[in-house]
Amino acid sequence: MHDLLLTNATLATMAAGEPYGLVENAALAVKDGRIAYAGPMAELPGGASSQTEDLGGALITPGLIDCHTHLVYAGERASEFEARLLGRSYEEIARAGGGILSTVRATRAASEDQLVEAALPRLDALIAEGLTTIEIKSGYGLTLEDEMKMLRAARRLAKERPVRVMTTLLAAHALPPEFNSADDYITYVCDEIMPAIHGENLADAVDGFCEGVGFSSSQIERVFEKATALGLRVKLHAEQLSDLGGAALAAKYGALSADHLEYLKPEDAPALAKAGTVAVLLPGAFYFLRETMLPPVEALRGAGVPMALATDCNPGTSPMTSLLLAMNMGCTLFRLTPEEALAGVTRIAAQALGLDDAGTLAPGKRADLAIWRARHPAELAYGIGGNPLVQRVFAEGRQP
Ligand code: NIG
Ligand code: FE
Repeated sequence: MHDLLLTNATLATMAAGEPYGLVENAALAVKDGRIAYAGPMAELPGGASSQTEDLGGALITPGLIDCHTHLVYAGERASEFEARLLGRSYEEIARAGGGILSTVRATRAASEDQLVEAALPRLDALIAEGLTTIEIKSGYGLTLEDEMKMLRAARRLAKERPVRVMTTLLAAHALPPEFNSADDYITYVCDEIMPAIHGENLADAVDGFCEGVGFSSSQIERVFEKATALGLRVKLHAEQLSDLGGAALAAKYGALSADHLEYLKPEDAPALAKAGTVAVLLPGAFYFLRETMLPPVEALRGAGVPMALATDCNPGTSPMTSLLLAMNMGCTLFRLTPEEALAGVTRIAAQALGLDDAGTLAPGKRADLAIWRARHPAELAYGIGGNPLVQRVFAEGRQP
């Protein structure tokens, strides 16, 4: 007896191999929250279902996965956006104590409840576009107490909404004002923050910002050593604004992913492939910073590096809550194919999070699904975003 049977559907299973893993005239059965069958209607095994729905040919994809976000934060940075448009650079603003540190001030001042409340509309916008799993980083607290508060808020979101939240400790995001030395702060991260966060089981992985305005590769290496000793997987913001060799370091530590990668040298791509490290491309940040250096997509593709796409939702470089827009930008700005874009927010995004129970439609996987008013999966990357900010609309004084 199935719990749910969806018939007369088109499946984009996203299983590796066939384009989109497309199955027409298909059915999908769910039992105990897992996919029991996904395939042609004609081959559907017999058996009753407590609920059957004819989808009239609609498209089913795996629920979308946003594998890189900073969804939990307080405040906003619209004035910084304005300053950048007037000619100041992201790095200049950061060095003057703005940027990440301005969000740190707002986030430290917020309670856990306030952080949850602020994040929910952003999460709802993502869910409205088919999201079922999201990664959320800390990194705007930079004290043990405030990093914990952020990660607890992130974990609570999974209780407030039907989503899976994977949390990432990003204490090595920026140098907090109370430290004069980056090395001393990294010692605090390794000796105090990481063991305590691990002890409370608040983080699924550890991330860092390897950058001139972040931390050097040797400082990040200390964080990776500690993470490895604690049994935590690592990932890295690498080569976003300059090339500090972050991706090579990530590969050396068998990172789940190396993210951004605009300044990655093409010859560094094979090391990522060899380590099984996913390249997470973040076209929202590229767009919002008006970056002109493109990530070396052809080299990544040629080397066989799996490529994911994510929103990088954050108040400074990517105030974006649309994975569909990230897919569209991945195609238009980075020249991914619509199929690569969809794989990048399903199968490959799951890989970037170390999850093997999501990202494709196959028996045994979680029944995380999105059903679309679309006939072909290429349509998902084709539209140029929605507007999640709109709450009500009036047309000549009347609501539709
Ligand atoms: O992914 N680069 C570092 N972290 C974020 C930006 C955070 C911020 O500016 O608040 C990013 O782009
Ligand atoms: Fe980021």
